[in-house]
Amino acid sequence: MQWRPDRRTFLKTGVAGALLGPRMHASAADAGPRPVVVSSGNGLAAAAKAMELMEQGSDTLDAVIAGVNIVENDPNDMSVGYGGLPNEDGVVELDSCVMHGPTHRGGAVAALRNIKTPSNVAQVVMERSDHALLVGEGALRFAQVHGFPEVDLLTDRARQAWLRWRENLSTSDDRLPPHAPEDRDVGSATPLSERDYGTISCLAVDSAGDISGVTTTSGLSFKIPGRVGDSPIFGAGLYVDNEVGAAGSTGRGEANLLNCSSFAVVEFMRNGASPEEACLMACQRIVDHNKVARLRDDEGRPRFGVSFYAVSKAGQHGGASIWGPMRYAVNVGGESAHHDGAHLYMRG
Ligand code: GLY
Repeated sequence: MQWRPDRRTFLKTGVAGALLGPRMHASAADAGPRPVVVSSGNGLAAAAKAMELMEQGSDTLDAVIAGVNIVENDPNDMSVGYGGLPNEDGVVELDSCVMHGPTHRGGAVAALRNIKTPSNVAQVVMERSDHALLVGEGALRFAQVHGFPEVDLLTDRARQAWLRWRENLSTSDDRLPPHAPEDRDVGSATPLSERDYGTISCLAVDSAGDISGVTTTSGLSFKIPGRVGDSPIFGAGLYVDNEVGAAGSTGRGEANLLNCSSFAVVEFMRNGASPEEACLMACQRIVDHNKVARLRDDEGRPRFGVSFYAVSKAGQHGGASIWGPMRYAVNVGGESAHHDGAHLYMRG
């Protein structure tokens, strides 16, 4: 059974103390199923595809990328790849990061335009360059050289959503006037929790305990052009350590960039936390560091959401969100299903 405390229980049980506490040791009872695929809530089909490929002998990285390709290529998913919501100027800019545990290699692209599947480009960055991250025009030229077809990523549906925002809500953007950290009524009139940070995370552990992960997104809707979130940044939106486990994230990327959150989740697991505990601890770390008044509600809670997904080398999995309810996708034995995760606060 998964441990699912409310915030009070979480603080009382002292799990937060494990952030700096002595190393704990996972027991054999902590082993989960292997192979296993863990994904964000929008990843049921991705997890099924990844598992299908692993069962046919695919490497974990090829498997998770093929999984998220389903969502990247889906014009009806407005948060990832083709059909994703555009930036402030109406241009779709994609971010993605991949990590291959057995070789501890990774590749990433940020603010990539015109390519449907940034996760595939990220894999080619990993395999065919001596770099880990390419951005913008350079990332596009790299993709062109490697034969990726260029397409207009802006579907009519996404264009109309952008036009509505542009015509009606143009004061609800990410630009801030001069202000102090303690100023509350500053910036966007739209509650941050209502901005679309949609993303897909997919992590896999094979029967031998080898691990890979991918995160891919069109990022924050209507963002300032050139804005890069956590998804293409190692340690922020994704981290894999083949000896420990992997973590991925969805939600407000700025919070993960400022807290190296996915790296923290893996380090918490290294120190003995279960995947769910580790995800919850990363949520708490964000809350503890969220000191800017405009990002806090009347009770000091974040006015934004972040979710984490994690899997250990042994195959144990878990997830947690700052705001519940939280659920994530898991595939074991070919069956994808949603599992409940933990949360710090429940939306009213
Ligand atoms: N987590 C996705 C983003 O902030 O872009």
